[in-house]
Amino acid sequence: MSALSSTTISSNRQSVTHRKLRLHAPVLALLVPPACVSFSGCLSFERTLVKATELLKPANAEEAASLDKIDLKRIPQHVAVIMDGNGRWAQRRHLPRIAGHRAGVKAAREIIETCARLKLSYLTLYAFSLENWRRPQAEVDFLMRLLREYLKRELPTIHKNNIRLLVIGRSEQLPEGVRKDIEHGMRLTARNTGMKLVVALNYGGRAELVDAFNAMLEQVRSNGLSAFMADEQTVSEHLYTAGLPDPDLLIRTSGEMRVSNFLLWQIAYAEIYVTETLWPDFSPARLLEALVDYQKRERRYGGLNAAQESVPAAKSAKRSRWAGRG
Ligand code: FPP
Repeated sequence: MSALSSTTISSNRQSVTHRKLRLHAPVLALLVPPACVSFSGCLSFERTLVKATELLKPANAEEAASLDKIDLKRIPQHVAVIMDGNGRWAQRRHLPRIAGHRAGVKAAREIIETCARLKLSYLTLYAFSLENWRRPQAEVDFLMRLLREYLKRELPTIHKNNIRLLVIGRSEQLPEGVRKDIEHGMRLTARNTGMKLVVALNYGGRAELVDAFNAMLEQVRSNGLSAFMADEQTVSEHLYTAGLPDPDLLIRTSGEMRVSNFLLWQIAYAEIYVTETLWPDFSPARLLEALVDYQKRERRYGGLNAAQESVPAAKSAKRSRWAGRG
């Protein structure tokens, strides 16, 4: 995460551009079409440079190509990720599963850094599900240790970069040491105003709904609210994610077409992106590809797009008979 702390976006765009140009000329050459050498072209040349390098220095040609296609003004507000495939990654290398999890932490670190630099507002990572307790005890213990190690090592950088750590799930059932570490992390970063990093730990979507219903019932009982009726807002306000916007984009690595009990209520209208890439190989370049794909989607939330709206209702009903619902 150290590179993250070095991001300083000066208000003097000219100086930013020139400084970056000196430092990253070979990479920037990949971003800028050769036609941009005339004087008037220099203006767009400069704009291209600012767009591509202001938030993220592309590490390679792949990243540069995706960055160039991204509209920084339409970055999703909230990205949620099902990080899957650590075990298979290790297996393919004839390594123990825990080596896959170690590599998974490294990938998570890079994705967190990239999202923060892209000025994403919320990133939610599915780190440990309620169902993951079914794994061998040694693997569960290792995952818990890994999480504590991660927090110990990365918390100062997370804090320095104004990221706020939040944890969702039945954290009261986690080992005491893990609980203390996450409480410390959340307390330390509570006033940070940058990206919210939400870690789903001992999390299950159905359990979250059960907990929400029980919390509502408890309020009804203790306040004698015999006429109480819940609506969507009331349910949302009782979820672990109360106050957070729903994810715009749900990414799942390793190719499985499942939502695995993740944010069941919140992903109602999320765009879903599934990649064959195993989590430890999910590099910033792969994330940028997902964002480019997201920006090509049309989000209708059950309504119509502008072209459909301009068609008279009878015609449009006929035409949309077999159309999807979302
Ligand atoms: C799934 O791979 C991954 C997990 C069980 C989560 C573990 C995640 C990490 C170690 C990343 C760390 C996250 C943070 C926030 C530091 P799998 O074991 O199910 O893979 P498989 O399906 O190939 O067996």
